Amino acid sequence: MARKFRVGIIGAGGIARGVHLPGWKAIPDVEIVAVADINEAQAELVAKEAGNAQAFKDYRDLVKLELDAVDVCTPNRVHTPAVLAALKTGKHVLCEKPLAVTTREVRQMGELADRKKLKLMTAQQQRFTNSARAIKGWANAGGLGEVYHARVRAMRRAWLPCAPGFIDNKLSGGGPCMDIGVHALDLCMWLMDCPKPVRVTGTAKVNFAKGNKIPGMWGEWDRKMFSVEDFAAGFVHFDNGATMTLEAAFLGHQPENEDMSCQVFGINGGVKWPSAEFATVTGGSFAQGTLTAARNVERPHSEEIKAFYECVVNRKPSPVPWTETIRVIAILESIYAAQKLGREVVVKF
Ligand SMILES: NC(=O)c1ccc[n+]([C@@H]2O[C@H](COP(=O)([O-])OP(=O)(O)OC[C@H]3O[C@@H](n4cnc5c(N)ncnc54)[C@H](O)[C@@H]3O)[C@@H](O)[C@H]2O)c1
Repeated sequence: MARKFRVGIIGAGGIARGVHLPGWKAIPDVEIVAVADINEAQAELVAKEAGNAQAFKDYRDLVKLELDAVDVCTPNRVHTPAVLAALKTGKHVLCEKPLAVTTREVRQMGELADRKKLKLMTAQQQRFTNSARAIKGWANAGGLGEVYHARVRAMRRAWLPCAPGFIDNKLSGGGPCMDIGVHALDLCMWLMDCPKPVRVTGTAKVNFAKGNKIPGMWGEWDRKMFSVEDFAAGFVHFDNGATMTLEAAFLGHQPENEDMSCQVFGINGGVKWPSAEFATVTGGSFAQGTLTAARNVERPHSEEIKAFYECVVNRKPSPVPWTETIRVIAILESIYAAQKLGREVVVKF
């Protein structure tokens, strides 16, 4: 019998168990052979669920195994050391978003992957949703034309994730910018063909999370530990002249529980994600409608994992390459820098 594609998972928490495990299990040729988590009991539980995999407390033991790929699902700040350990031992890597919280680390991982001819993919599942695929196809066919502006929103009313991995800066490296802003921003950048950001101004601050004015819909969090922003906004200039506004929040007074969206304005047409509504002018008449995908994808996370697996086995480019991710992280990193310096910053990465 031919040897299966061997996968090791690092970080066995919510996202690993909830979507990565089912995603890998849906690929017949894949065997999950090991799971690592600093919480040994969690590693053992998920290793069992994976089907008789080995459990490790230390991911440095996992990467020593003979594996084809490693899937990193740890808190954000642990991504870089875990990804580097996997790449150094010759494994292809799929890593949860944000790949890293600094452009320096993204470059370090990306250049190592390139040198070793290994695939590195950021897990941005929004790119694999039906509406995103439909919009991208329409944009590629000229629906947008030259893009001159975009709006990005990842705004929540009271869905503040309480776990330390999201609110302790030492683990998360940022608040809503890094946790949810990165989803809508990556999607929007992809629709814009990832222009290079050159100047950014912005704000990142805490309005509510240290107090009790807005109750968390996911329960209580440690106010003392909370060391990230609960609201951020930015204005971005790109090298092609295009601009972008971005807003991200865990808490704020708005009627929607969450507004995760973007809107892209081009010379030929404009479009909104995720609604996939478009507007244009055809033959002197206003035209508008809703784009639909030709193929229905029910589980974008599983589709993303399959895309990673296929890029490795078919030796194709990474579906979410680090060269695109670094531009996304540069914008978020620059919003924090602009807040710190109190002025617009020139983006360097
Ligand atoms: N794509 C998405 O929609 C999505 C959704 C949620 C979370 N995420 C991302 O997934 C990652 C994990 O989030 P989560 O919700 O699963 O968090 P979680 O807290 O549920 O799980 C993280 C796990 O990593 C383990 N861990 C911590 N340090 C470790 C280390 N040094 N070595 C091994 N394991 C370690 C923890 O013990 C925990 O079990 C984060 O980067 C987050 O941004 C993505």
